[in-house]
Amino acid sequence: MRGLSGRTARVAAAVCLLGLAGAAGIGAAGARRASMHEAGVTMQGLWAGILAGKPAASLAGQARWLAAWAEHLPALFPPGSDTGATYALPTIWSDPQGFAARVAALRRATRAMAVAGEAGDQKRFGAAFRATDDACGACHRVYRHR
Ligand code: HEC
Repeated sequence: MRGLSGRTARVAAAVCLLGLAGAAGIGAAGARRASMHEAGVTMQGLWAGILAGKPAASLAGQARWLAAWAEHLPALFPPGSDTGATYALPTIWSDPQGFAARVAALRRATRAMAVAGEAGDQKRFGAAFRATDDACGACHRVYRHR
């Protein structure tokens, strides 16, 4: 399980990468896609853990990481990062309220998952995982080109 400092360092590193992206020529879209990919891997790990019947408490660290990631999510979408190799739709920037609502839904779901994990509440953890998965998909359906 990842500890608090580890999680904070990883989120900080992801945010740092955004700053470096311009200089390194990766571009904000590339950094965003790498960060999204990491969230996807974390979700897959959680799903594997749930299927394997692991105690929710042992998955709380990954849930907390996702909750912290959700806090930083808007930073992955700086203005002007809708060009280049990206599936992000321009409506992200033309409809900031709608986009913010999807971010808020993800924050709620990931926080609920972290709280349930810390409480060792297996049933709530599973429900919050599904809500998180729904929140990922809800944004993708509207704001990601398929
Ligand atoms: C508020 C909107 C939003 C939320 C919430 C969101 N995403 Fe995304 N995601 C996007 C957008 C937009 C893209 C396309 C990014 C691009 O191509 O620049 C994307 C792309 C991705 C990709 C593809 C990355 C690649 O390699 O191109 C994965 C994987 C992903 N998201 C996983 C997740 C997971 C897992 C969650 C939930 C834990 C999540 N996303 C939540 C908007 C969102």
